[in-house]
Amino acid sequence: MRAVDVILKKRQGLELTGEEISFLIHGYCDGTIADYQMSAWAMAVFFQGMTAQETSDLTMAMVDSGETVDLSQIAGIKVDKHSTGGVGDTTTLVLAPLVASIGVPVAKMSGRGLGHTGGTIDKLESIPGFSVESTTEQFVERVNSYGIAIMGQSDNITPADKKLYSLRDVTATVESIPLIASSIMSKKLAAGADRIVLDVKTGNGAFMQEKSGAVELARTMVEIGQRVGKQTIAIVSDMSRPLGSAIGNALEVAEAIETLKGKGSRNLAELCLRLGAQMAVLAKVAPDEQSALKLLEHALNSGQATRKMQEFIRIHGGDERVVEDLTLLPQAQRQEIVSATRSGYISGIAAMELGTCAMLLGAGRQTKASAIDLAVGIKLHHQVGDYVKLGEALATLYVNDSKNLSIVAQRVAGAFRFSEVPVTPPPLIYETVSQ
Ligand code: URA
Ligand code: CA
Repeated sequence: MRAVDVILKKRQGLELTGEEISFLIHGYCDGTIADYQMSAWAMAVFFQGMTAQETSDLTMAMVDSGETVDLSQIAGIKVDKHSTGGVGDTTTLVLAPLVASIGVPVAKMSGRGLGHTGGTIDKLESIPGFSVESTTEQFVERVNSYGIAIMGQSDNITPADKKLYSLRDVTATVESIPLIASSIMSKKLAAGADRIVLDVKTGNGAFMQEKSGAVELARTMVEIGQRVGKQTIAIVSDMSRPLGSAIGNALEVAEAIETLKGKGSRNLAELCLRLGAQMAVLAKVAPDEQSALKLLEHALNSGQATRKMQEFIRIHGGDERVVEDLTLLPQAQRQEIVSATRSGYISGIAAMELGTCAMLLGAGRQTKASAIDLAVGIKLHHQVGDYVKLGEALATLYVNDSKNLSIVAQRVAGAFRFSEVPVTPPPLIYETVSQ
């Protein structure tokens, strides 16, 4: 087989066989197929697309390029949740203890973040003492004993995806639905869960800005799951505004704790309940979505979810008192209020812009090597639809290094759009896609 023939076949819009796809992916990984050939192929895919069978073959070829995680020693049906990412998206921090508290085993492998704030691991490390260092045996033992554990993801998962994603990034071939779907699903499948719940975000704070593209991505990923025998459900949710009110590592942990106590932002709680219900049904902890929602709401109202969060923190060496006393989290030296420069109804909040502002304050990594400041970030005081008066606080900036402060303050104020007439916020969930 020659790479040039496979590239030509794709360029002509023909369907590649599983062998041809596997030949390309394995050749690319072992260096016998060059970057320029893989780039040409990715561009051909960008224009010609891929069939459902090709997309699932590509996914499995990438899974096979590296290690896969074996969770078979953990009792019960393991359901993994993945979000395509957004701004102020604290769902994992809420969902993990929430669903664990009703009996869904949570075996979370997570990573560090690149972009507006850290990843789940960075956020959890803002809890004093919290450590994700563990052996696989400890991890398995914790999930079996407590129903919940987290550990850092192995670097040896889906090396083909890492290499191809970096290449796509510099060859204008990222925005291809089959390439994105196989990239995300390969990582999820290699991580070993039995079932997968996907939160596909759409709007200006999301990777897929257009709703139609997000729905197509969701369908493509659910179809991959079906073809490879891992039941997958996707929710398409709104990211045209920040989901919660906190953007920043410790601030998001604080918001997650408030949400577990029933006090956090309503949208965040609502999305967690909906995602959690899908997880509970897939894990066979509840027979249907309605009864799953009842169990989850009870867990929030009774303190059961909060107690699971305390336990989760304690078994990872963290100071569980943070759940009762949020001031034990890292605190920024300075708080700066951003006020409304006019009165009116908030008609939009540019989520991505706020994410960039949080990063400029030090909450996120601009490059893989950057250090992050766990204490800093942005807390929003209003959401889309609220009426605010001139001079009212829109947001508080939590600051340690004042270097970018004045520009960030201006940009945060500019991220709010206003209307003279009342505004109806967009729906939180657009669609649920299942097999
Ligand atoms: N996220 C991924 O993991 N892969 C893509 O291709 C795009 C977004
Ligand atoms: Ca995730």
